[in-house]
Amino acid sequence: MVLMLLTRLCGLLYPTNIVKFIAYCSKNVTFALLCRPKSELEIRFRRTEKVGNELIIGNMVKVNLGGCNSFIKDADYKAYVEKALSALDVLEAETGAGNDFLGWKHLPSETLNSSLVAECEAVRDAWAAKNVDLVVVIGIGGSYLGAKCALEALSHQFAKQLKNKGNAPEIVFAGHNLSEEYMCELMDLVQERNAACVVISKSGTTTEPAVAFRLVKKYLEDTYGKAEAAERIVAVTDKARGALKGLATQEGYRTFVIEDNVGGRFSVLTPVGLLPIVLAGFDVNAMLRGALEMEEACAKRCECNPAVQYAAMRNALYGQGKKIEILVAYNPKLTFLGEWWKQLYGESEGKDGLGIFPASVNFTTDLHSMGQYIQDGERTLMETVVSVENSNRSMTIGNDPQNLDGLNFLTGKHVEECNAMAELGTKLAHIDGGVPQLSVSIERIDEYNLGALFYFFEKACGISAYILGVNPFNQPGVEAYKKNMFALLGKPGYEEQAAALKARLAE
Ligand code: PA5
Repeated sequence: MVLMLLTRLCGLLYPTNIVKFIAYCSKNVTFALLCRPKSELEIRFRRTEKVGNELIIGNMVKVNLGGCNSFIKDADYKAYVEKALSALDVLEAETGAGNDFLGWKHLPSETLNSSLVAECEAVRDAWAAKNVDLVVVIGIGGSYLGAKCALEALSHQFAKQLKNKGNAPEIVFAGHNLSEEYMCELMDLVQERNAACVVISKSGTTTEPAVAFRLVKKYLEDTYGKAEAAERIVAVTDKARGALKGLATQEGYRTFVIEDNVGGRFSVLTPVGLLPIVLAGFDVNAMLRGALEMEEACAKRCECNPAVQYAAMRNALYGQGKKIEILVAYNPKLTFLGEWWKQLYGESEGKDGLGIFPASVNFTTDLHSMGQYIQDGERTLMETVVSVENSNRSMTIGNDPQNLDGLNFLTGKHVEECNAMAELGTKLAHIDGGVPQLSVSIERIDEYNLGALFYFFEKACGISAYILGVNPFNQPGVEAYKKNMFALLGKPGYEEQAAALKARLAE
């Protein structure tokens, strides 16, 4: 009622302006009104979180657990908060499983004070001087998904089709599959362009990127000569070990180091992610500043810590049989956030017969495909919606005097208002259908907020895996397919396994 009156009042004061109202039922959440006259006035409700007597304003990433109220009793949530705080203690004291892989925790603060960004910019400038217009970024898993996610989120979605493509080179990815057609079609493109390559592999021995790199390296050497090709190749790899490190040293490539204490899926804020993002023309300092805000917020030993809130609630729900978590985005730019998040949580938690299965969808698109199952299928689902409070662009729906489509009730509304109401309506429908909803919101999609989101999900992942009782930083299960593939491809040293597999396949 109070909110409605305030909204009306603002509408009277600024009658030509748009009133946007997105209110979420929320646990421990109050709303504050922010009215600020602009060329086009926006009235927004910005959430401030109330925990006990403490009012927290300004966290980049906000967690809203209101959509879980009817599924988890407050006392049960509080018990999981205690578990999350204990897990946070272990993470901060660095005494838990995998504690030699915690270098990611202080990457924002450390990197902002280092020369890394300037070194990435030096590569960008050197290649700009050669008029490079295509960079092939080779890598898989954690050596690919963070950069891909950032570029998808930050780039114009029709950049390739626009006449004005800007000055930054186009970034394409390779080495994340073993498809021959993909490689042939990639080479069709590379041959038309002035190309360079960033090859990323921490271990330096992963088959998919190694195969792609062998093909791209040969093309660059055949086309530009060995010396010039060496100037067009940058390697991001381990400090000392691995075939890629040896190759880079021998060929004289510029190299960036992935520190031993940062695992692949936690490496987006190392040169693994930062170099491709700089090459594409984006502001990684802003990304690191956003991550830094969350480095501070997610280190706090309190219920107000958003990583604690998220980790606690998803584990509370898992304990009640919600075995599948769907990451939901309402903006297609965040499709690859889902891919990055799935790797982070799937590889970190899916072990020892445990773990929430991470899935992802794009709404409203997938409401017309997966919506039926989510509303009505097996009740083992929970949803985490990545909610974006403000659109970076603005477009309203016009009036049509004929109104043949019957849509004049939308006249004057922003497209994003329809999206926001779809989000709210879906939330209520899914809760009614037995799907609890967590929400993780950011103010808008930009470098700053994306950096914050990366760090938030990483910290929450470490906490969540420790609550579950698994080592978040290893991935023993990934080796199984590799051993079989090597044996079947005739790699030296795999003869016995090859014979066993062939006998099995002949049965
Ligand atoms: O998270 C991980 O550690 C993995 O997903 C790796 O990033 C992926 O397997 C690629 O490994 P590498 O960078 O050693 O080629």
